[in-house]
Amino acid sequence: MSFNKAKEVIDEGDVVILYLGPSNMHSLEIKPKILNKKGQMVDNVFQTIYGALKVFSLVGEKYGTKVQLSRGWGYVLQPTPELWTLTVPHRTQIIYSPDISLIIYLMDLSPGSVIVETGTGSGSLSHALIRAVRPHGHLYTFDFHELRVNVARAEFEKHGLSQFVTVGHKDVCVDGFGEQLTNKADAIFLDLPHPWLAIDRALCTLKKSGGKLCSFSPCIEQVQRTCTNLSSKGFIELNTFECLQREVNVQYKNLPILDLECLKYEHTNKDMAQQSENGKQDQTKLLTVTHARSLPGHTGFITVATLPPLYARKSEIHLECND
Ligand SMILES: C[S@@+](CC[C@H](N)C(=O)[O-])C[C@H]1O[C@@H](n2cnc3c(N)ncnc32)[C@H](O)[C@@H]1O
Repeated sequence: MSFNKAKEVIDEGDVVILYLGPSNMHSLEIKPKILNKKGQMVDNVFQTIYGALKVFSLVGEKYGTKVQLSRGWGYVLQPTPELWTLTVPHRTQIIYSPDISLIIYLMDLSPGSVIVETGTGSGSLSHALIRAVRPHGHLYTFDFHELRVNVARAEFEKHGLSQFVTVGHKDVCVDGFGEQLTNKADAIFLDLPHPWLAIDRALCTLKKSGGKLCSFSPCIEQVQRTCTNLSSKGFIELNTFECLQREVNVQYKNLPILDLECLKYEHTNKDMAQQSENGKQDQTKLLTVTHARSLPGHTGFITVATLPPLYARKSEIHLECND
């Protein structure tokens, strides 16, 4: 139940994040025994670069505690959608937190929203969508890959999130989102190879008062086809974004004071370097701002569009939806 509400102490059945460093985190299920590769039940011992951890010994520990491993230590953290995105077992490509934050903002999601997602994939985005719409909203998520559907459903159950999510197995481009969702959704999110094929279906699923459709695609050709189809179906306010994170470091640095006399008499850089080496050049502590040397690369394009309320749509579009 550790995803649903903040807890103080770790219980059997929780999922916890073992934090060993910013790029070394693992999700662990707190149970006494696990199946090994030979199909035998064995003690749940997790191996890390800092040695072994008896996972069940974490029961009763407080979240945030420093835990001893056989050759070092780590921290046990409460899981969040962001930490889950960093530790989720990948069944597919996943969407990461910078893109997720923009997607949730662009779709106007808030507690109480009804959101439809396809494909579920590894459930990375789904966890953040659930947090945005609970406790009164609901996520309906679909995938045509049966194994992924079953694994995602089991994960939501283990994470104590089942009451906020319904996982469906279907090809939405062929079968649509289902009659029970007709005119029910505030927003629809598509992470599909052919998102333009699901737009007719989305028209009938969004509320009569209108809503948002958002699509994530790695290639610009997919964006072009999606936008063309969105416009022809009466969607307005189309925008496409690429979310590139640029980190800025603000820190104090010791820097040499510029010796203007030195410059005046045309001393060479070599002289100045020599001075600095001899410790003659004075230094000062300055608050500096630098940009990170590397920039995370392209992930995908995020397209968002608005469906206006029914009374403001073109009549031929109502007809298509009613068919
Ligand atoms: C890239 S993954 C989605 C990853 C997900 N957004 C995440 O963050 O974990 C795309 C998923 O869409 C599913 N899919 C592709 N076409 C589909 C369709 N027409 N109907 C339903 N699911 C589909 C695939 O099986 C795959 O699991």
